[in-house]
Amino acid sequence: MPKSLVRKGLDGFQPYVPGEQPPDGEGWVKLNTNESPLPPSPNVLEAIKAAADDSLRLYPSPSAAPARNAIARHFGVDPSHVLVGNGGDELIELCFRAFAGPGDEVAFPTPTYPLFEPLCRIHDAVASRHPTELAWELPPSLGADPAPLKFIVNPNSPTGALFDRPVVEAAVVASSGVVVIDEAYVDFAPQSSLPLLERHDNVLLLRTFSKSYSLAGMRIGFALGPTDLIESLNAVKDSYNVDRLAIVAAAAAIADEGHHTKVVDEVVTNRRELNAALESMNFEVVPSATNFVFAKPPKPAAEVVAGLRERKVLVRHYDREPIAGWIRITVGTRDQHEKLFVALKEILS
Ligand SMILES: Cc1ncc(COP(=O)(O)O)c(C=O)c1O
Repeated sequence: MPKSLVRKGLDGFQPYVPGEQPPDGEGWVKLNTNESPLPPSPNVLEAIKAAADDSLRLYPSPSAAPARNAIARHFGVDPSHVLVGNGGDELIELCFRAFAGPGDEVAFPTPTYPLFEPLCRIHDAVASRHPTELAWELPPSLGADPAPLKFIVNPNSPTGALFDRPVVEAAVVASSGVVVIDEAYVDFAPQSSLPLLERHDNVLLLRTFSKSYSLAGMRIGFALGPTDLIESLNAVKDSYNVDRLAIVAAAAAIADEGHHTKVVDEVVTNRRELNAALESMNFEVVPSATNFVFAKPPKPAAEVVAGLRERKVLVRHYDREPIAGWIRITVGTRDQHEKLFVALKEILS
């Protein structure tokens, strides 16, 4: 589209830039986008194969009913407390559609998930940033902010830090608007904000199948919350936002708790090893409650990242304050870590 036809509000718009996705099969050690290093449940693959039939000519259930019911059963709630989306990202965008109009403030701590900034521009909302200090704790000013919509990514990205539940709850209590707690990484953390749903009617939790369920490629996530907030999201979503294969994949994934636990346990074990190895190479490491580790190398990060890339290892790199010089490394398999460590030792020697 000719630039002159794009609406004025998007002048100078900086889109969200996803991590590099090189073509499959090129042998990259891919530790840059927090995907699971382990495969999905075999039951999920079976369910997808079984669903790949003539019924694909029909639209899917508008409410993704089989997935919604399975998620509701898993959490012991009525399905009216669940909304299924095309990944956590779609659910974040639906929160803008439902709760923040043009000129409204949308508050979040920084640094955090970089999707909120471009969504503010797209929705003509105003970003209200609350910088965390280097201890990476939730700033008290967030609760006092009168914004009608707030996001707290917990555990946070890219830092991997977990905000304590009482601190998050204090921000919720102080807020008059909707507080969305994005728990994309919570399965790798020692605690979640789930109990807050019973005590507060202005909280939504967002979860994803992309990380601990090894299904980033299926694009499926869900929101949990009070029925009126869930209904507000439902009212503004696209009719058929989740496809038939994603619906059966989600239902099968959440029913296979054994596989899920295995994935989480292995990632947490590998995270410990990654953390220790980085510390032994003189990285500064933030204690992680996620499937990635945020660390500052003892050499300029750009140099380290370029050296890794030359050796076919991809990690995420930050060049803006206050996290300039830091990198984020997704927890991988033992084999991937071995390749990473060999590469790092060469680069740092
Ligand atoms: C904090 C956070 N929220 C949400 C998402 C989106 O997840 P999904 O793949 O479900 O869209 C991500 C993905 O990396 C994330 O880091």
